[in-house]
Amino acid sequence: IPVDVFDLVIFGGTGDLARRKILPGLYRRFLAGQMPAESRIIGAARGELSEAEYREQVRAAIAEFVPKARQDTAIEGFLSRLQYVAIDATGTNGWAQLKGLMRENVVRAFYFSVAPGLFGDIAQRLSEHGIADAWSRIVVEKPFGRDLASARALNAVLARHFNETQIYRIDHYLGKETVQNLMAVRFANILFEPLWKAEYIDHVQITVAETVGVNGRGAYYDKSGAMRDMVQNHLMQLLCLIAMEPPYHFDPDAVRDEKLKVIRALKPVPPEDIVRGQYGPGKDEPGYLVHAENPASRTESYIALKVQISNWRWQGVPFYLRTGKRLRARASEIAITFKQPPHAIFDDASGWHENVLVIRLQPNEGMNLMVMIKEPGPGGMRLMQVPLDMSFADAIEDAEDVPDAYERLIMDVIRGNQTLFMRGDEVEAAWAWTDPIIEGWEARGDRPQVYDPGSSGPEDALMLMHRDGRRWREIR
Ligand code: BG6
Repeated sequence: IPVDVFDLVIFGGTGDLARRKILPGLYRRFLAGQMPAESRIIGAARGELSEAEYREQVRAAIAEFVPKARQDTAIEGFLSRLQYVAIDATGTNGWAQLKGLMRENVVRAFYFSVAPGLFGDIAQRLSEHGIADAWSRIVVEKPFGRDLASARALNAVLARHFNETQIYRIDHYLGKETVQNLMAVRFANILFEPLWKAEYIDHVQITVAETVGVNGRGAYYDKSGAMRDMVQNHLMQLLCLIAMEPPYHFDPDAVRDEKLKVIRALKPVPPEDIVRGQYGPGKDEPGYLVHAENPASRTESYIALKVQISNWRWQGVPFYLRTGKRLRARASEIAITFKQPPHAIFDDASGWHENVLVIRLQPNEGMNLMVMIKEPGPGGMRLMQVPLDMSFADAIEDAEDVPDAYERLIMDVIRGNQTLFMRGDEVEAAWAWTDPIIEGWEARGDRPQVYDPGSSGPEDALMLMHRDGRRWREIR
């Protein structure tokens, strides 16, 4: 379904995120026929580039980041919608020109794909020059602050010039197809919801494992670490979608109100429920410290936490969260382990396992419900566990057609739908929970435990579950 005609300005239009995600995503939406003919994309950045030069840069980005099969002769049509303005975010250059380009009666969206330190300057100039109107939307990227104080300051700066309904804070995990599917599974089926509580659920595991290291991002990452880079945002969002109460409607504030309640109900995490790791050198590769360019760095590239939610539904149900870089496999999943039936009627308990609902986020998106059945054959009533397998690849005809998270979210901005974006109070609440955890390990001077690249993380993380009589699922 085509969206309304828009002018989308990308600040940082020559930057890494624009090249990797935003422009290739827009191109795919263009190919899908979702971008009305009169819509335009205006790249804005510091460099003096001609329009032709900018278009060539975008052509190269698409050649690099869009799968070959999706590249198309229609690219000329896409490129013809691109314009470029050289702009100085902290000065005067370019703003009058940008204003001259904006059209009346079309959706105006401004993507701040720049360092957060520039958000305030850009917001101020957009409103001073009358470039943004009361219907304009701004899109801001993570990191949204590095603690509660800085997130509040950012919210305040944006609020000076824009209403909350105009601000789209991106967490690209919310744009992932399977993450949205999580809500469909929970709230469009009667099967799961009655069991979705402490009475029937033993524990939940959320894993986001990556094989990549920090490589070229060491300077940013070393100031951030896995807690700020992944847990405060992406893992927190996943946890919210699992733990939230059913919203009364799939509408932005209804959904975000429910997520906010979960974040506010998170208990403080004691030091013994946190394991931090840092990958060491491998056979042919340097370790984290070399990439971080800081031989004394105590920043974690891995973290595991046991998190508890202090409310009626989740009383006593631990949520084990873990995420890390340079791990054995790229594998993100949520696993919900149910309790055992109250009474065992079968003598054979040898093959016994609990029911587990595994929601696989990436790769190989899908769901598995592990159930117990009778082992086929004449051997009596022996039990075995089998998966009820719902692989999305089978359900979707062309997996390539599934929009990438960014594509989906940018189109939501144009449609004016904030459901999959974070509200200011939500981000602040997430930092309010995160801050004391980080302050705690900084005050104690904790060092992360070194783990081997290509492993499943630090040994201590195993203990986090073993001592509760549970086990992490294998990363694969
Ligand atoms: C980003 C983090 O937000 O998410 C990166 O800054 C991380 O460190 C990335 O690699 C993971 O995203 P995805 O979509 O590849 O799981």
